[in-house]
Amino acid sequence: MGPESTAAKITIDPAYVVGPVRRKTFGAFVEHLGRCVYTGIFEPEHPNADEDGFRTDVLDLTRELGVSTVRYPGGNFVSGYRWEDGVGPVSERPTRLDLAWHSTDPNLVGVDEFAKWSLKAGVEPMMAVNLGTRGTQEALDLLEYSNIEGGTALSDQRKANGASKGYGITMWCLGNEMDGPWQIGHKNASEYGRLAADTARAMRMVEPDLELVVCGSSSPGMDTFGEWERVVLTETYEVVDLISAHQYFEDHGDLQEHLSAGHRMEVFIKDTVAHIEHVRSVKKSTKQVNISFDEWNVWHASRDESKVPTGSDWPVAPVLLEDKYSVADAVVVGDLLITLLRNTDRVHSASLAQLVNVIAPIMTEPGGRAWKQTTFHPFALTSANASGTVLQLAVESPLLTSAKTVDFAALSAVATFDSEKGEAVVFAVNRSSDQPLALEVAVGSLGAVKVVDAITFSNKDPYWHATADDDTSVAPSGNGSVKVDGGTLTADLPAVSWSMIRLSVA
Ligand code: AHR
Repeated sequence: MGPESTAAKITIDPAYVVGPVRRKTFGAFVEHLGRCVYTGIFEPEHPNADEDGFRTDVLDLTRELGVSTVRYPGGNFVSGYRWEDGVGPVSERPTRLDLAWHSTDPNLVGVDEFAKWSLKAGVEPMMAVNLGTRGTQEALDLLEYSNIEGGTALSDQRKANGASKGYGITMWCLGNEMDGPWQIGHKNASEYGRLAADTARAMRMVEPDLELVVCGSSSPGMDTFGEWERVVLTETYEVVDLISAHQYFEDHGDLQEHLSAGHRMEVFIKDTVAHIEHVRSVKKSTKQVNISFDEWNVWHASRDESKVPTGSDWPVAPVLLEDKYSVADAVVVGDLLITLLRNTDRVHSASLAQLVNVIAPIMTEPGGRAWKQTTFHPFALTSANASGTVLQLAVESPLLTSAKTVDFAALSAVATFDSEKGEAVVFAVNRSSDQPLALEVAVGSLGAVKVVDAITFSNKDPYWHATADDDTSVAPSGNGSVKVDGGTLTADLPAVSWSMIRLSVA
């Protein structure tokens, strides 16, 4: 069903604030999975590799993407990982089976390499501990190795391995997707809740101010979702800061349904907040636990790209989850980021899953080029331009209905306002698969505004995707329709489009 009307209206008022633009909204994820690490961030034989074996072309693109935090080393991988395998002289490190992705890991990259890479990339590392095959002691050991300055067995081991200073890692994930039957060592909610609470308490004895993320259910579609949050938070509420949310969106061939992804994420956030608030209320706590949306993206998980090796095939760094993203996928990614920002009061951290090669905005050829997927653009532009505060908008939009999702707004929008910069930025997605939207924005309460930049990403063929040979011919470009007349801004938003309008505010 198409929209009843093709006009939408936003009213902006800087007095109505949702919360700050958090840099941590612009996080990403590096897992030992496929070619994310090996031939992704790390490829010593590559002509562009630096003295540590890191690809400088990937480092450059990571900086250009504007990534803040990077979650590591998994993902499903972490639930079978022995962090000790990845430290010390490389020639002495064991090669291990990675059961999560049916691969072989040579352990050429571990905690020390990742910390070094993070420094070069200008990102903050966010570390996950293994609560699948391991437990509290190993989490404490990794914390001691990473953060204690010296004078203990493990911190001195780190020093001997070349890192004289502690890494000061503050964000820690207490396991990964522990309700998933695919997860090594997966648990029921009370088993996991107890383990997570014990581990959190012990980690806080070492460093009281760590930012700890307990696992929420692995997706809103899980039968466990809701009850899992209740039981796990009942055990952990006072010792954790954040609960994780994970959600992936796939295009099953129905474009309008695919474009409802932002709406579905919004519902998931609201539901997760409701589960958190239930526990807070029952506990009569004044503390607020928030959301770490630490896996989100488009992932065409049922396509061949996601078929893991089987049988006696245990390859090193296989081609896995190497989705090619269309313009429509980029519009969805832009909308998901708008949705995360719009919920900045409760979503305090997020990680695009993942960064390189594996369902990623950055792709590489082994020994060859690095290039940008379509999804790179909305992420980079939002990260570079959203600043200050997120404003609460009044939105009037026609509604859409698709195969499984009913009555969602055709317009998805958020605005940020930075009084120091004298700038307001509107990010907007037209979720209609076939109808343009005539957008009107009431900007009068901002004062005298001028359009600094107006950019739209859309294409005649919404299924166009970039390749190593052509990642530039379809890209965000100027939107000449954007005009300001008195207190009203108008813009034409094509069907299946993402836009950014930057305004200077006098
Ligand atoms: O990002 C790919 C995988 O998706 C992660 O390893 C896992 O946590 C999730 O199921």
